[in-house]
Amino acid sequence: MNAVEIKKDIYWVGVKDWNLKEFHGYSTPNGSTYNSYLIMDEKITLVDGVKHYMSHENIARIQSLTDFSKIDYIIVNHVEMDHSGNIPEIMKLAPQAVIVTNAAGKMALEAHFDTTGWNYQIVKTGDSLNIGKRTLSFMTTPMLHWPDSMMTYVAEDKLLLSNDGFGQHYATDALFVKEAPFDCVMQEAKSYYANILFPYGMQAEKALNTADSLGLDIEMIAPSHGCIWSGKEEVNAILNAYCKWASGQNEGKAVIVYDTMWGATAAMAEAAMSVFQDAGIPVRKHCLAVKNVSEVMVDFLDAKYVVIGNPTLNNQLFPRVAGFVTYMHGLAPKNKTAMCFGSYGWKAGVVKKIQEVYEDLGWTTVEPFEEKYTPKSDVLEKLKERVRELIAK
Ligand code: FEO
Repeated sequence: MNAVEIKKDIYWVGVKDWNLKEFHGYSTPNGSTYNSYLIMDEKITLVDGVKHYMSHENIARIQSLTDFSKIDYIIVNHVEMDHSGNIPEIMKLAPQAVIVTNAAGKMALEAHFDTTGWNYQIVKTGDSLNIGKRTLSFMTTPMLHWPDSMMTYVAEDKLLLSNDGFGQHYATDALFVKEAPFDCVMQEAKSYYANILFPYGMQAEKALNTADSLGLDIEMIAPSHGCIWSGKEEVNAILNAYCKWASGQNEGKAVIVYDTMWGATAAMAEAAMSVFQDAGIPVRKHCLAVKNVSEVMVDFLDAKYVVIGNPTLNNQLFPRVAGFVTYMHGLAPKNKTAMCFGSYGWKAGVVKKIQEVYEDLGWTTVEPFEEKYTPKSDVLEKLKERVRELIAK
């Protein structure tokens, strides 16, 4: 198990989870990585751990560089178990090490693990830690992606160890973005933002502003998932993308999400799509029978218009539609103009549940549209009129 040097005396000692297909509800067809870094300075410093079931690889890579008894600090940027799962095992190997984290991180560690005997150094934004030739500084980034999240900056190397921020659930033989197809990495970063960080745009904007006000000069961003952004061009590309996503700006596109039992809502989705196409608005149409919710959510970053269609089943939302609406509600996209439609057999009205979610998210809406059984051409014309009303909002 080889460690990989990413800057002089700073090594990637992480692991690649090639077989990960799901991350707490987020479909991850391309796996993920849990990046952990070892800084071989006068004070040897480990930054973040990995998931518990891959601990042996992390440990082997660390041991290729140092004995655990020589580790001075373990920085815990985030306590979610994909980064902290093997910290108890590491602390057994390196009980002398001091855990460097923020107050919320300490509380979260104590809530997850038996931390008896662990020593801490608690830091907050602007605090620094000299480890020899380098001084590390810290920036708490609450809710990116948990209350305890923070990032570590190595000024001498112009390196930001950003944990979840700027990451991708993407396992590849490439360690650096420049070794991978750029569009694939950026698409994975976008998917990661849409499925993990979407609710926290305000906090992401705050973190970007804090980094600016601290005057961080960043030439490399090494996240704890996926590939490492190196060089100003790549760093600016991902920083600019985050600025855009966090601001809630969209590209004025439309996304239609539906499911269908006997083709009625599929026909309505088709009719709705034709209106966007006629208006010259780029539109994507996803049937939840074949599309995963995570794949669909990526399009919400670019969409101004959202249209969700439901086939009523036993007087309820269709289960896949209900699941999608719940997932989307939690991710809380902002600034959308939305409509819902549906078909029913004997009882109308269930699409109101979708409308209520739109209202809870503060979106602009038009009246829901429903039809009994199969929509005929005159009904589809009325639905199209409702979509035109939506576009005119
Ligand atoms: Fe990669 Fe929030 O953990």
